[in-house]
Amino acid sequence: MAETVPNNFVPALRYHWLTKVYDWVLKNVFPEKQIKEDLIQLAHLLPGQNILDFGVGTATLSIIAYKSQPAAHFHGIDVDKAILEIATKKVATEKAVIELRQYDGQALPYRNDMFDTIISSLVFHHLYTEGKTKSLAELFRVLKPGGRLIIADFGKARSTYTKIAFGLFRRFDGEYNTRINAQGLLPKCIQDAGFKSVVELNHYNTVVGTITLIEATKE
Ligand SMILES: C[S@@+](CC[C@H](N)C(=O)[O-])C[C@H]1O[C@@H](n2cnc3c(N)ncnc32)[C@H](O)[C@@H]1O
Repeated sequence: MAETVPNNFVPALRYHWLTKVYDWVLKNVFPEKQIKEDLIQLAHLLPGQNILDFGVGTATLSIIAYKSQPAAHFHGIDVDKAILEIATKKVATEKAVIELRQYDGQALPYRNDMFDTIISSLVFHHLYTEGKTKSLAELFRVLKPGGRLIIADFGKARSTYTKIAFGLFRRFDGEYNTRINAQGLLPKCIQDAGFKSVVELNHYNTVVGTITLIEATKE
């Protein structure tokens, strides 16, 4: 893992001291398994492919991906050293092969056109609008032509309950970084970064808001 220090970022559960209970919270109050398994099923991972998990966190998504296709090459990147330490232990316990890296939240340390598929869950609502734009430009750069980007993150609420719940959740997780998500504009940001065929594939109403599964391609 490289030792780079990001300027600032929103940790997994908003506050650094909550990072150690992130997995417990996700497992117990959120339909984590269903959303992550659906995402990986949609990714149709193939042997030999290079896969990037952007904002890998505790590596739950990458481990599901690895188990579904152990003959692919998995890379996970995140800005948070503390969460990557949890990820490193989990990856070892699960005997998965995932190359974890820390970076500073700016340029991704990968060459152009390196990845066949990029997966990412619950990361974009952590990024300020400029961060979303910058990160999507970087993801576009490192994705191969013909490659796919699949994201699960908060989208526009699909029910009165999720609208109220996400409104409250945004006070906790940050109003500004979640605004584009609440307005349902993440697909437009993805399109503005150069991706084509941006499609919302599924929606999940959860206790904290509606999660949208988005697929996009690089032509
Ligand atoms: C809610 S957690 C999601 C973690 C994991 N993807 C999952 O689904 O459980 C958000 C993650 O995004 C990471 N993150 C925040 N800013 C980032 C950035 N600029 N680049 C990459 N990861 C970032 C955080 O450190 C955190 O691990």
